[in-house]
Amino acid sequence: MIKIKVPATSANMGPGFDCLGVALDLYNYYEFEEIDEDLEIEGCEECFRNESNLIYVSMQKCFEAIDYTPGGIRININSSIPISRGLGSSAACIVAGVAAANELAGNRLSKERLLEIANEIEGHPDNVAPALLGGMVAAVQDKGKVYFDKVKLSDNLRFCALVPDFTLSTKESRAVLPTSLTYSEAVFNISRAALLVTALSNGSHELIRHACEDALHQPYRGKLIPGYDEIIEKSKELGCIGAFLSGAGSTIMTILSKENETFPEQMEQFVKSLGNKWTIKELNVDNQGIEIRTPPINAI
Ligand code: HSE
Repeated sequence: MIKIKVPATSANMGPGFDCLGVALDLYNYYEFEEIDEDLEIEGCEECFRNESNLIYVSMQKCFEAIDYTPGGIRININSSIPISRGLGSSAACIVAGVAAANELAGNRLSKERLLEIANEIEGHPDNVAPALLGGMVAAVQDKGKVYFDKVKLSDNLRFCALVPDFTLSTKESRAVLPTSLTYSEAVFNISRAALLVTALSNGSHELIRHACEDALHQPYRGKLIPGYDEIIEKSKELGCIGAFLSGAGSTIMTILSKENETFPEQMEQFVKSLGNKWTIKELNVDNQGIEIRTPPINAI
């Protein structure tokens, strides 16, 4: 049996649309086993217990790449990452499936190759790269390759996610984006994405808020989220050092300095005044990424 743990991820981080993401200490756990025949899936809704399950589809992609044909597959899921909230639940399923298939087939592929397969399934690397590698990752895809680098984050940072009771699918959230941009909007974003990487790395807290601004997606997606503007405004007032839409939403992510101990409780009070229910999750960076355990045979 193979046991896999995958962290949640927060992608885009404001201006880094489709290229920046960070792994956080909220996890999905999976168990995989090759059995004689058939597909058995436990730990998810009935409608996902079939061959179109994203974990299983991702396993098949990896098996094809390795040219391995398993008998049957058993998958057990224990998930804490909320679904369709911009916290990388799909990416977790994809990297777990790809990594499990590689293990079952004899661990033949490198992490770089697993990332390429996962990226091909997801379409962009900003969730799958930190889910596999941990930490904050900058990643670029080009002709099937993924070029990535980990960002050394300043120690004095933690995250606080505001997770609403409504979902937003990536498909829906991508559908509201414009099809073209002006030159000045492109400059607006690349300058902030560059500044965000240096400010998070150097601990230049006073710059992070400005660096989280974005012209590519947040102005359009923010309108899909009741309470978005109020939360961003309140988070500044409560001393967060940066705030952005997590992935394609609906979660809003805030960055805090470790000294700011009052923010989560004060924000919890504030969100009670809004129309929807918002859950506050205090999170730290996960530096490890995916963890794969293959227990010794006599321990199973
Ligand atoms: N970069 C992606 C997006 C992340 O914003 O659409 C969500 O999958």
